[in-house]
Amino acid sequence: MGLRFLGIMSNEIGVDLGTANTLVYVKGRGIVLNEPSSVALDTSSGRVLAVGAEAREMEGRTPGEIETIRPIKDGVIANFEVTEEMLRFFIKKVLRGRFMVRPRIIIGVPSGITEVEKRAVKDSAERAGASEIHLIAEPMAAAIGVGLPIEEPIGSMVLDVGGGTSEIAVMALSGIVTLTSIRVAGDEMNQAIVVHSEEIREALAEPVNSIVEAVRLTLERTPPELAADIIDRGIIMTGGGALLRGLDQRLREETGLPVNIAEDPLTCVVRGTGRVLEDTDFYSKILF
Ligand SMILES: Nc1ncnc2c1ncn2[C@@H]1O[C@H](COP(=O)(O)OP(=O)(O)OP(=O)(O)O)[C@@H](O)[C@H]1O
Ligand SMILES: [Mg+2]
Repeated sequence: MGLRFLGIMSNEIGVDLGTANTLVYVKGRGIVLNEPSSVALDTSSGRVLAVGAEAREMEGRTPGEIETIRPIKDGVIANFEVTEEMLRFFIKKVLRGRFMVRPRIIIGVPSGITEVEKRAVKDSAERAGASEIHLIAEPMAAAIGVGLPIEEPIGSMVLDVGGGTSEIAVMALSGIVTLTSIRVAGDEMNQAIVVHSEEIREALAEPVNSIVEAVRLTLERTPPELAADIIDRGIIMTGGGALLRGLDQRLREETGLPVNIAEDPLTCVVRGTGRVLEDTDFYSKILF
């Protein structure tokens, strides 16, 4: 054992950098952080006043000189400097005194992310203190977190309904075969819900229809052999939006497929990054 062992154990981390929530997994320790992706700034100096849960509590309650920012929009970095500050704060918090060795980090990103957006995530993590940075497609991480056999020649479908994006992916042989990403997810549905209760169903109809349509489209674009697997094995729902009451039933009715909500859907992506950290050789093919 000794210091070397401890150092290795505690400096490999997996991050789900989400629009709504950021979660961190530390190798050997499990999920050690789960906080809103929010930062409170002093508007005159630009100084960070609070990050995560503490910043979230200030949202909508700030006096003129304080501003709260959600630096991730639709799953990607909208504010580079603030994302970097937030990542740095979270990394420091989970590694506490063990920050002497710069951490190796795996970050979940939307699968439709552009090269420029990838660069932004990597730069941000690097400037926040990471040494080696790997990115993993979020639906892939979610599937691994759930324990789906993505490395086998069998089609698996994941529907991740996050805060900013919903992603539907069909995976097989360690790759994403079909993907649909739409910028309709939980946050939009939350906004739709801030009305009278009898109007909720109506308000939700549009975002729910978009998700149902996206699932249908993904299945249509999937090669028949894999589509047959999905007809047998069904769809697994992950992300916070999977908890929206009745969404699973709607999907079942509209698609005729088996639909299951993953256990603890909000943590699937970060648990997936954790499994990849624990067995990097096995999963090396799927990192980018
Ligand atoms: N019990 C619940 N019922 C309905 N919606 C919920 C529930 N719990 C969380 N949500 C919604 O889930 C969303 C957050 O999910 P999640 O943490 O998976 O998103 P994220 O990973 O941060 O976002 P993204 O993947 O789009 O970047 C929020 O919009 C939230 O309102
Ligand atoms: Mg997410």
